[in-house]
Amino acid sequence: MATTSTRSTMRRTAKLPSFINYILGHHRLTFLLAGVLVSSLTLHLVFPTQPPTGSAPSTRRVLLAQSNVVAPRGRVPLGLRRKPLRVVVTGGAGFVGSHLVDRLMERGDSVIVVDNFFTGRKDNVVHHFGNPRFELIRHDVVEPILLEVDQIYHLACPASPVHYKFNPVKTIKTNVVGTLNMLGLAKRVGARFLLTSTSEVYGDPLQHPQAETYWGNVNPIGVRSCYDEGKRTAETLAMDYHRGLGIEVRIARIFNTYGPRMCIDDGRVVSNFVAQALRKEPLTVYGDGKQTRSFQYVSDLVEGLMRLMEGDHVGPFNLGNPGEFTMLELAEVVQETIDSNAKIEFRPNTEDDPHKRKPDISKAKELLGWEPTISLHKGLPLMVSDFRKRIFGDENSAKTI
Ligand SMILES: NC(=O)c1ccc[n+]([C@@H]2O[C@H](COP(=O)([O-])OP(=O)(O)OC[C@H]3O[C@@H](n4cnc5c(N)ncnc54)[C@H](O)[C@@H]3O)[C@@H](O)[C@H]2O)c1
Repeated sequence: MATTSTRSTMRRTAKLPSFINYILGHHRLTFLLAGVLVSSLTLHLVFPTQPPTGSAPSTRRVLLAQSNVVAPRGRVPLGLRRKPLRVVVTGGAGFVGSHLVDRLMERGDSVIVVDNFFTGRKDNVVHHFGNPRFELIRHDVVEPILLEVDQIYHLACPASPVHYKFNPVKTIKTNVVGTLNMLGLAKRVGARFLLTSTSEVYGDPLQHPQAETYWGNVNPIGVRSCYDEGKRTAETLAMDYHRGLGIEVRIARIFNTYGPRMCIDDGRVVSNFVAQALRKEPLTVYGDGKQTRSFQYVSDLVEGLMRLMEGDHVGPFNLGNPGEFTMLELAEVVQETIDSNAKIEFRPNTEDDPHKRKPDISKAKELLGWEPTISLHKGLPLMVSDFRKRIFGDENSAKTI
């Protein structure tokens, strides 16, 4: 038998439309509200709202990528895996580019290499052929190209003095027109753009070690200017696209880097010494051999480049190993590693060769949480085994970290 209060409720609800009556009946409303509460709580826990960070504006796509790369490594809940990115690497068939491509492929991204093979080699990326996530395009960055990508690593440029002095006008065109084209692409498709600049922007430095705040001491009309001034202009272009057009840019200033897949006989001091010692030729030291350089193993550099790309800071950032060696000290390490009887031969110094080079990497340490981990004594043997294989065809001796 219905009670008085139940009857009065029934009278009240009888005046309401039937669907409201339906919701109010049998505690349905309570269940509905509890369901909404539980699902919004779950969503909040799974996708916590992140306040915008850093100096650079971020698209949602890039934030998604960042949150996954920067996040501490651990088990990623099923269905929440980082969305693979489409990444173009210009100069990706070269020394640094090919190691970067390996890491991006390993991470699960789709990678497009754009290279004109001036100094790059198909051999450096041949192990990715046949992988559906990998594409190789023979293209000169001096010509525009349209690609749908999320990130652009812009490395294309001859990097050793032998190569960049070979055709200086082409070198500066690559740096200026090539960089403009890739920045134009970044603007058109909303991609993030990373420029691989160089410690050469500091010229023959009057400040030691070099911090990013130092503006450099560069000869604008010398034989190296096509490269040094070219990279300085490329940095200017990147910053102007960033400030003026809101393009997300990142700038790395790379110091001397060595490792497997470097061009043999490219005139860079580490590859020179290693190739000479392996061929039982004297190690050629230019000048008095007291000029200093720092030597960074390639896997350290690639780690720095990727952290820079995924992070929130534009840069520029020095990426190099602060360990400083004179050319004679480097020759000694090469003798210890390859041939203790290798002779040293002195030659007159080359024009505009800087006397000192050593990066101050405090900024990269603080803002990217990056510093090199591989010493010259550990990295050099890995490069030697790759060179030995390429010079003598010894299949069993090539290894990388
Ligand atoms: N390795 C270092 O010690 C070092 C130091 C400072 C800066 N960098 C910079 O890092 C980048 C890579 O250097 P790397 O040592 O790998 O040199 P690398 O010569 O091995 O690689 C450069 C690549 O760019 C390609 N390339 C050159 N001009 C091109 C063009 N017009 N269009 C398309 N592709 C072109 C080459 O074929 C090559 O594959 C360069 O931008 C260089 O300036 C390197």
